[in-house]
Amino acid sequence: MTTGNTITNTTAHEANTVTAGPGGSVNGEAIVPGDKSLSHRSVMFASLAQGRSNISGFLAGEDSLNTVAAFRAMGVSIERPDNTRLTIDGVGMHGLRAPSAPLYMGNAGTGMRLISGVLAGQSFATEVTGDESLSKRPMGRIIDPLRQMGASVSSQQNGCPPLSIEPATALTGIDYPLPMASAQVKSCVLLAGMYASGTTSVTEPAPTRDHTERMLRTFGYPVETNGAHVSMQGQGNLNACDLEIPADISSAAFLIVAACIAPDSSIVLKNVGINPTRTGVIEILQLMGGNIELHNRRDAGAEPVADIHVRTSHLKGIAIPEALVPLAIDELPVIFIAAAVADGTTTVTGAEELRVKESDRIAAMAEGLMALGVDAVATPDGMVINGGSIGGGVVDTFFDHRIAMSFCVASLRSTAPVQIRDTHHVETSFPGFFELCASLGMVINRPPASA
Ligand code: S3P
Repeated sequence: MTTGNTITNTTAHEANTVTAGPGGSVNGEAIVPGDKSLSHRSVMFASLAQGRSNISGFLAGEDSLNTVAAFRAMGVSIERPDNTRLTIDGVGMHGLRAPSAPLYMGNAGTGMRLISGVLAGQSFATEVTGDESLSKRPMGRIIDPLRQMGASVSSQQNGCPPLSIEPATALTGIDYPLPMASAQVKSCVLLAGMYASGTTSVTEPAPTRDHTERMLRTFGYPVETNGAHVSMQGQGNLNACDLEIPADISSAAFLIVAACIAPDSSIVLKNVGINPTRTGVIEILQLMGGNIELHNRRDAGAEPVADIHVRTSHLKGIAIPEALVPLAIDELPVIFIAAAVADGTTTVTGAEELRVKESDRIAAMAEGLMALGVDAVATPDGMVINGGSIGGGVVDTFFDHRIAMSFCVASLRSTAPVQIRDTHHVETSFPGFFELCASLGMVINRPPASA
């Protein structure tokens, strides 16, 4: 099996090791942090809009804060009156200024790929960098369409960051068939399309999250969606607005699986985004027998939200329908944990995109599951998991937030403690995760802060 994962930085392991379980349950009510995808987009659109936008429910995680820092570095005034609120004075489509240093996007593929669409349309040059994980992620997927539009963008020889983006001369709209089901690539092309002449359109091979399209409309920028085809006219304007960002279903997913697999559990997750392009995790778990109900459905601006009630469930293994894979792409690691305790076999196919996330998530999950004695076999595009029991042991996270949180959930059913190494990256998407887990009834031990 090939894997893109390597481990470095051994000295940091111990301070960031969390020991979870064995056992525990989850009970009560919780509000998980704001949606990461929407948080990135809200900063980008509000910065380019005319006027003041107020954003609530913003994710105060490292990924989205790096996007805030990038737009501040380009001259946008962004105030943070409290942890989850932003007031952004937009500078208009052509009001950004050249930053004095490379823009650092940290761990965030979304931040880097989307901001590159904006930068491709600017009259100044920029360099965009990331951390060790982001520096290994493929950028050819955005460079190809941006070049077709006339942008001058280059990566390192291996197609990875840092990226250099030269001042735009004139971008031209393209009609782009996406080679893979990627909302990041779709969004990058649409963001560059705002600066292009004529029509820019994208055709998706399968539905992916449509937050960019919805948020463009919220900011008054017309976008047409016709089945798999999205199109827009270039050189329009964005108007400031007030946005309420719902809780992130990708973060809620850890607690949804937790309540499904733990004994005597019942949890209500409030105000979670349930955009139909994101709810694959609920559909998959319901197919497995998950006891999950949605209540109090309503709209937060252009995004539907609900409270999600989850109770202890008797899960069975399934062949996950491939059509649901792009709608649950970030939740598959924790779905693998559900599969590990389900009756029978769960098969995942069509998920090769997992190999190019913050880590190679197929390899990372298979390795961790096997370290805990689970019968899991990685395949090129997914995994086959025979449900049974989970043992204790040590798992590597490969510096990936979702791997760390998935194995924390696994500890609810492990027969001995699960030691999770390198948990720091949980801060990118779910600050306070371990504290919340402990408050809901999970068994969490962290070294003292000074360790
Ligand atoms: C995202 C799209 C997905 C997802 C990522 C966030 C977005 O990536 O994995 O966490 O906000 O557009 P791809 O579109 O590359 O699959």
